[in-house]
Amino acid sequence: MPLPSSFELREGSLPITALTRIVIADEHEHDHQHDQTVNHLIGDVQRATGIHLARTATAAAGDIELRLDGDPGQLGPEGYALDIDEHGATVRAATPHGVWNGTRTLVQLLPHTPLDTSLPFAHILDRPRYEWRGVMLDVARHFFGVDQLLRFIELIARCKLNRLHLHLTDDQGWRIAIDGWPALTGVGGSTGASGSAGGYFTRADYAEIVAHAARHFITVVPELDMPGHTNAALASIPGLNLDGIAPPAYTGKGVGFSSLRLAAPATRRFISDVIGQLAADTPGHYLHIGGDEAHATDHAEYRQLVELLQHEVRRHHKQMVGWEEIANADLAAGSIVQHWLQPDVARRAPPDARFVMSPAAHTYLDMKHTPQCTLGRRWAGFIDVDTAYDWDPATLIDGIGDDRIAGVEAPLWTEKVATFDDVQHLCFPRLACLGEVGWTPQHLRNWSGFRPRLAVHAERLAAIGVPLYRSALLD
Ligand code: ACM
Repeated sequence: MPLPSSFELREGSLPITALTRIVIADEHEHDHQHDQTVNHLIGDVQRATGIHLARTATAAAGDIELRLDGDPGQLGPEGYALDIDEHGATVRAATPHGVWNGTRTLVQLLPHTPLDTSLPFAHILDRPRYEWRGVMLDVARHFFGVDQLLRFIELIARCKLNRLHLHLTDDQGWRIAIDGWPALTGVGGSTGASGSAGGYFTRADYAEIVAHAARHFITVVPELDMPGHTNAALASIPGLNLDGIAPPAYTGKGVGFSSLRLAAPATRRFISDVIGQLAADTPGHYLHIGGDEAHATDHAEYRQLVELLQHEVRRHHKQMVGWEEIANADLAAGSIVQHWLQPDVARRAPPDARFVMSPAAHTYLDMKHTPQCTLGRRWAGFIDVDTAYDWDPATLIDGIGDDRIAGVEAPLWTEKVATFDDVQHLCFPRLACLGEVGWTPQHLRNWSGFRPRLAVHAERLAAIGVPLYRSALLD
């Protein structure tokens, strides 16, 4: 999971025993990322088989070798070759990320029963369809803390997702401490949807999340939603309001009533400071500025604000990402439009903009699985695992094919999602469906082939205690 782009399974298997070692060449001994991959693999094999593998620099028969000498042209930044035969197992890639992906596949090939600790003979050559395979978690409506996010990162890495988009701010809460603006968290961080407790990440918390994501080769994409969805900021800082009067905190579920205003005295300094700090604290290339549902913002002012945000993001050498409404502004080359609802709006983007596809009817994780589910909303339809799987990103917007699609992402909005158990129930196993949409070539994907693999994936998640959704479609 996800299905590799090409593979062959053969008769026979390679035993994993206490004598098997993990081999990495001496020259990579000090490669930090490579080293983390080895440690992960040792832990995963131990959990699956009870066997603790030693590491070494010289291969002998039967070992598992991780090599960084793959052909970049053939494998790209994330691809890998995995060969398992009577001589041993080899993961070969052009980058540490590719080696990581290969080891994730290797771990899945372990039978996960203590009675059988062997790897099937296989030849796999694999690389993803899209570079962006993401999930968004809304920590603004209901806050989820560092420990929960670290666990979430470990779970999403299992289906080769590589972007964690954090929706950090909204009308109901502001969740990231910004130097020089203590009221953002003091006031804006103290509330949440439906009277929930609120909370926020310190810069150190954010660094811890980013570092754990990096250990799993996941890039954090932070979102500060502007110019709408800003009541928590407006309530914290009087100077963001034209009349200088902060509105009351908001804890309801409505959208589209708040807006930054260019003429308010604090707006430009606020934008410069929040974008500047987040750019400094985010090693990934992307900053998401929201831009959705700005129903309280005048059209011309909306464009000016998005263009100002884009200017600030680019000044810090990042790429701007925004919800599809930003296509109404003058977008720079490389800015990324996240399609969610209206193809006609998304299509206004210029030819050098790129797209992340989050069609609500297939990817919105806050939707119910079936009409019988108590958890979840209905407005975009019911999304059981077949609906989460059975769609093609290249057919959503007329004229927008894979050459302009960066990838796919599933958002989880949390207006009505209060606990981390609820988060997991809505995310799993649907995120495994998205993982394969984003990875596997379309012509190799079909629901009937996917279903039994998803059932195994779901069992493994259940076995580690994930309170996942039990779809009747997998019975
Ligand atoms: C959105 O669902 N408002 C992007």
